[in-house]
Amino acid sequence: MGYLLDKCHFGILTSEIIDQCQPYRCSKDPDIDSFFHKDTKDNFSDYRSEMMGYTHCFYTEEESPRMVCAFSLSNSALRTDTLSKRKRNKFNKSIPNTKRRSQYPAILIGQLCVFDGFGHHSIDENVGDEMMDLIKTMAIKPDNDCATRYLVVDALNTPNVLEYYKRNGFEFLFESDEEELQCLRSYDAGKSLFRKIQERCHLAEKQEAPACRTRLMLFDLILLRQ
Ligand SMILES: CC(C)(COP(=O)(O)OP(=O)(O)OC[C@H]1O[C@@H](n2cnc3c(N)ncnc32)[C@H](O)[C@@H]1OP(=O)(O)O)[C@@H](O)C(=O)NCCC(=O)NCCS
Repeated sequence: MGYLLDKCHFGILTSEIIDQCQPYRCSKDPDIDSFFHKDTKDNFSDYRSEMMGYTHCFYTEEESPRMVCAFSLSNSALRTDTLSKRKRNKFNKSIPNTKRRSQYPAILIGQLCVFDGFGHHSIDENVGDEMMDLIKTMAIKPDNDCATRYLVVDALNTPNVLEYYKRNGFEFLFESDEEELQCLRSYDAGKSLFRKIQERCHLAEKQEAPACRTRLMLFDLILLRQ
């Protein structure tokens, strides 16, 4: 039990729900804020209509509801063929020999946000952690038609966001920014992905080591197996 389960409704985010709710905002990140609103560019609704991601939300049960938090999920894959041999061997240790593959089934957390007014300074309960527990529960539901082994996220590379995912049991796939960049580069150097890499990096001229804008993190759902 927690704030979300006790005091909120849960549903797929729609324009109708947005219209019912009081205005809401994620002031910590304008891009994420824009994703969770209607009539904005490249938002949750575009992803839904292209069947690229479904966005779920929690909003209070009050007569004039407040939007508490939201997240989007997509089917994805965790690739290990882009890893160095040493890293791949280390990773594969948690998988029985006969089940080892170059990619594993995963669910991608595309966007995720606790809206202003519901962060840890505002209410006693930690809504962000409860939301993550519920995402994990959704991912391992026994009646899911499709199995998944990992939750993956391209986490914003800021101390607070990384700390949030670490606190919730996520770990880095790559040990450092440098290793992550190097691996992506060798995977598809010179091709379309390179543009994506550039977008993901702060390639400031004076910076000694480029930092990724996001870091790939994963949670192994087998840890929750009963
Ligand atoms: C990431 C998040 C779910 C973590 O929640 P939480 O750790 O339970 O608690 P809070 O929301 O209170 O955030 C903790 C701290 O991180 C900071 N923070 C969180 N996201 C941040 C971001 N994107 N940029 C800068 N600071 C951020 C908060 O300002 C807060 O700092 P403070 O303690 O100095 O006030 C939530 O902060 C959030 O929704 N952030 C904005 C959206 C986001 O960054 N999503 C992650 C995408 S990968």
